[in-house]
Amino acid sequence: MTDKRIIAVVGATGAQGGGLVRAILADATGGFAARALTRKPDSDKAKELAGQGAEVVGCDIDDAESVKKAFAGAHGAYCVTNYWEHFSTDREMAQARAMAAAAKSAGVKHLLWSTLEDTRKWVPLSDDRMPTLMRRYKVPHFDSKGDANHVFTDAGVPTTFLLTSFYWENLIHFGMGPKKGPDGKLAFALPMGDKKMPGIAVEDIGRCAYGVFKKGGEYAGKTIGIAGEHLTGAQMAASLGRALGKEVLYNAVPFEVYRGLGFPGAEDLGNMFQFTHDFADYFCGARSLALSRALNPALQTFDQWLAKNKSRIPLE
Ligand SMILES: NC(=O)c1ccc[n+]([C@@H]2O[C@H](COP(=O)([O-])OP(=O)(O)OC[C@H]3O[C@@H](n4cnc5c(N)ncnc54)[C@H](OP(=O)(O)O)[C@@H]3O)[C@@H](O)[C@H]2O)c1
Repeated sequence: MTDKRIIAVVGATGAQGGGLVRAILADATGGFAARALTRKPDSDKAKELAGQGAEVVGCDIDDAESVKKAFAGAHGAYCVTNYWEHFSTDREMAQARAMAAAAKSAGVKHLLWSTLEDTRKWVPLSDDRMPTLMRRYKVPHFDSKGDANHVFTDAGVPTTFLLTSFYWENLIHFGMGPKKGPDGKLAFALPMGDKKMPGIAVEDIGRCAYGVFKKGGEYAGKTIGIAGEHLTGAQMAASLGRALGKEVLYNAVPFEVYRGLGFPGAEDLGNMFQFTHDFADYFCGARSLALSRALNPALQTFDQWLAKNKSRIPLE
C-alpha cells in the first residue's frame, strides 16, 4: 500500500492520460501515485507504465462496476472518453455517468473531466451557418462532452472541467500535416481563415492536469482551459517552414470544403473549425496561456514541439 494520494487515470495508455501518469511518476516527491486504468493490462503500453512505476488496473468505462472497483481508494480521478473509437455520443454520456457514479461511491476528493464546449450554447440548432449533425448536434464530439459536464456536478463530485485544445500531434497521427500539391510545394491545410487557434503538445495536457491536482481543491467546481499557443494557420505554416527548412504555404480551406472531404468525422471537424473560427475571441480567451504555464512550467510552444517532432510528420 502507498501512503501517497492515488490518482486513478482513465486513458492512461493514451495521449492525455499517459501524459498525466508520466507527470505523476516524474515527481517522485510530489505525494501522488499513479493508478493507470486500461482495458488491456497485458498490453505493451500497460506493461511499460507498470515498468515506470504505475499501478496498472483493469477497467472498462463501458462497465460501471469495473470503474467502481478501479476508483476505490483513489484520492483523485482523471476522466477522459475516446469519442473517435466509436463515434457515439450516447456511449460517451454513459461512460461519463459511470465515471461520475464510481467517483462518488469511492469518495474521490477531486476529479478532472476532460471536456469541450457544448457549441449549441453559441450556435443553436436553428442557426444554419453550419449543418446540424446526427439530428441534435453541431459539433458532436464537443457537444456531448460539454453536455456531460452536469453529470459530474449532479453526482456531487468536486470536479474541475478541463477544456483541452487541438493536439499538434494531429499533424503526425491524423493526417493534418503539410502535403505536397501538384506544383510540388508543401501546403498546410486548415479551415481557420486568419483567426488564431489554440493548440498544445498533448504531453502538456497531462502535465497541466497534474498541476491542477497539485493545487488541491483550488480549481474544484471551476472550468479552466489550457493551450500551448494560440496561432493562425499562417503562423503555423511559417513555423513548419522554418522547422522543415522548406517553404510551407498556408491553405485556408473553406469550412464547406472541409466538411465534404468524406472521411469519418469530416463534417464534425469542419463544424469544429468553424466554431473555433467564428468564436475565436471566446475560444482563445477560454484557454489561458498564462494559466497553462503556471500549472506546467515546461509548457511547449509550437516551435519547441516542432524541434522535437518534425521528423515524425509525414509529408506526402
Ligand atoms: N485530437 C485532438 O486534437 C483532441 C483535442 C482535444 C480533445 N480530444 C479528445 O480526446 C479524446 C481522446 O483522448 P486521447 O487522445 O488521450 O485518447 P487516445 O490516445 O486515442 O487513447 C484512448 C485511451 O482511452 C482508453 N479507453 C478508450 N475506451 C475505453 C474504455 N471503454 N474503457 C477504458 N479505457 C478506454 C484507451 O485505453 P485502453 O485501450 O488501454 O483500454 C486509451 O488509453 C477524444 O474524446 C477527443 O475528442 C482530442
